Amino acid sequence: MTEADVVLRAVGVHVAFGGLRAVDNVDLEVRRGELLAIVGPNGAGKTTLFNVLAGALRPTKGSVLLDGEDITRQPSHRRAKAGISRTFQHVRPFLDETVLRNVAVAALANGHRRAAADTRAAELLERVGLGGRLGKRAGELGLGERKRLELARALALEPKVLLLDEVMAGLNPVEVQRIGELLQEIRRVTSVNIVLIEHLLKVVHTLADRVVVLDAGAVLVEGTPAAVFRDERVIEAYLGRKYAAS
Ligand SMILES: Nc1ncnc2c1ncn2[C@@H]1O[C@H](COP(=O)(O)OP(=O)(O)OP(=O)(O)O)[C@@H](O)[C@H]1O
Ligand SMILES: [Mg+2]
Repeated sequence: MTEADVVLRAVGVHVAFGGLRAVDNVDLEVRRGELLAIVGPNGAGKTTLFNVLAGALRPTKGSVLLDGEDITRQPSHRRAKAGISRTFQHVRPFLDETVLRNVAVAALANGHRRAAADTRAAELLERVGLGGRLGKRAGELGLGERKRLELARALALEPKVLLLDEVMAGLNPVEVQRIGELLQEIRRVTSVNIVLIEHLLKVVHTLADRVVVLDAGAVLVEGTPAAVFRDERVIEAYLGRKYAAS
């Protein structure tokens, strides 16, 4: 593993909210071509780490590198231009705008002209299975459709790295399967690197090349899905508590 094989790297990242260490000295690498899953119990710091990677939040300590370049001080719009695109755990489309417009805005931001942006947006919406919904208001979409809209919007930025925060949460098994297939297709036809925060272990097993487990803000274990989910510490910290709670 050389430095050229690492697309995105976090080094010694800390985030403190008052006295709470939400992210505690995390080192993370996203390797070129892989699908990396980040798992961990509620409150483990997964979304906060994404916020640091995407530039929505400045870490208290540590740095973020994209293709070897230190981007820690770059605001999120610059990072989006540089190739980091993300979806939000709590999806937030422009509800009064059409489905097409929601994605076209992102394509415009990526430098397409108006007509080309609309064409590109329509293509992406077709790819995520919303081709029949272009003229609908985003507010009229169900949750599964909104998640796919969010994905199309993130893809419209033609990212190097796509950060997906629980894109499957709240969806029914058919929709989960569908998004899983979509991600596999995206990997086949583009060179995007995907980082997926995901609670559904089956999804992680099926899709991920590597898994990082966060617990209480720190990396607990990392490795292949098979190795990680056999690890006693993971069973205790993640599965044990999760099943105990349900
Ligand atoms: N803006 C904030 N201000 C204060 N505390 C915060 C803030 N954002 C997150 N936290 C706290 O930081 C910790 C990590 O939160 P985070 O949302 O990153 O967890 P998560 O792993 O994404 O959890 P979940 O699986 O529930 O989405 C939690 O204790 C949370 O309450
Ligand atoms: Mg979260």
